[in-house]
Amino acid sequence: MPSILVVDDEKSIREALSFLLQEQGHHIDQAENGLEALSLLQAKHYDVVLSDVRMPRLNGIQLLEIIRGQWGGEIPVILLSAYINQELTPLAQKAGAYAVISKPFSTQTIMQQVSRALETPSPQKGAQVKPFLLEVDNEIQKKILEFSALEMIQKSMRPIGDNAKLLAEVMQHTQSLFDLDAVILCLYDRDGNLQHGCRRLSQGGALQEADCELLEKRLLPSIARSQRSLLIERLDTHPGFQRHYPLPPGSMMILPLLTDYGLQGAMLLYADQQRAGLTAETSKTIAILLNYLGLKMENNERGQRLHTYYTDTVQALFAALGAKDAYTYEHSAKVACYALIIARGLQLSEYEFRNLEYLALLHDIGKVALPDELLHKKNGLSEEEVKMWQTHPLAGAGIIASIKFIPGACEVIRHHHEQYDGSGYPDGLKGREIPLYARIIAIADGFANLTETLALHNREAQKQMIDVMMRDSGRKYDPEMLKIFIQSYCRIILLDRKNTPLTAN
Ligand SMILES: [Fe+2]
Ligand SMILES: [Fe+2]
Repeated sequence: MPSILVVDDEKSIREALSFLLQEQGHHIDQAENGLEALSLLQAKHYDVVLSDVRMPRLNGIQLLEIIRGQWGGEIPVILLSAYINQELTPLAQKAGAYAVISKPFSTQTIMQQVSRALETPSPQKGAQVKPFLLEVDNEIQKKILEFSALEMIQKSMRPIGDNAKLLAEVMQHTQSLFDLDAVILCLYDRDGNLQHGCRRLSQGGALQEADCELLEKRLLPSIARSQRSLLIERLDTHPGFQRHYPLPPGSMMILPLLTDYGLQGAMLLYADQQRAGLTAETSKTIAILLNYLGLKMENNERGQRLHTYYTDTVQALFAALGAKDAYTYEHSAKVACYALIIARGLQLSEYEFRNLEYLALLHDIGKVALPDELLHKKNGLSEEEVKMWQTHPLAGAGIIASIKFIPGACEVIRHHHEQYDGSGYPDGLKGREIPLYARIIAIADGFANLTETLALHNREAQKQMIDVMMRDSGRKYDPEMLKIFIQSYCRIILLDRKNTPLTAN
């Protein structure tokens, strides 16, 4: 008989699903949150897990990630949510959900998805639960689960470069993992002044906004300054504390956020008496989380400082180019703009996007080494002058050699006048021998040059420019990149004007 685990914090939904599935001859167990579900999963094999997404103590996505981490693909997980939106579906897919069903659900959809999941062949299906976990006692098991969840939070924090987003992420996970009514996080500057404060309160929870104001203004700064933590497991047994802070009964914990630079802030956690409550054990786990948060914040700030330094360096070089030749300065700005159209079409990451922008702005930096007369001479270059003109990619690569923060910068600048069929300069590279960014910049460069001779606002001219570019597909330009450029460019033009479409084949 197939075993199905139903996880939902709403008892009525758990009961309804269990009834429905039992009718079909399945064995059903229930859990009211992710942590409880994990305890059951450690002890027994389930053929399918049917889980709500929004739950305290490990939400559905967190539960799914831990299941995938521990059991791979052997247990299909079907998620149920009343809040299916553009964010949830890709998030669920990425985490490895078998299906996502919206609430309120039809019984037919549930039956279909469960049957499909049970029929899906899996080589590991039915594998035995790891025996050593059956032997450890409940407390250790709880700790293992808590640390698995912590690891998952740390993983989710890793790609976040923005500290405000990072804090929001940590607060959300902390609240759901430890089943809290309120989480408050305050950051202080070096003089102890409040710099940033954020709070998360559960809906209909015991703690009110006014209580939070009082805690934020009076209690949190004094505990933070002492750089010690405070844990009150039962607020109602501390009448002295209650006189100053008349909070509803429950448990409360405050921990300082410390980094190598000293005190950064403090986090307050509150759970009312209906909840599991905060203990010294929880405080150790939260301390680990805060430690990681402090390190990550420091790292982000360092990254931000480096980013500013890089931007300043590129801007200084670009300004030097502008001082030498205003025409090349404007041309390079246009090239950057067109290169980013391709970057968008390629869905490059923020990091790659920024590097490409820097390189496009600096692609002609080598022209600062050319004599002014040559730089301003439009036509009729002698053979010798053409040769001298063609040295600018090499000169540019030499200038850019000291910039180490853009991987492959020298090669891109050196090869931006190579042509796809191998007839370019300085090295006659062909096809994919030419670095990708150099192939992109070549297209942007060619198009920017065309816009200097044909008026962009003229629709006929735009079609003409696309035709000219297409004639050089596979000769001068990488056909794949050119197609992406023209498609993305046409889309922008169409968005800009509701006109007859331009063709891009
Ligand atoms: Fe150039
Ligand atoms: Fe150029």
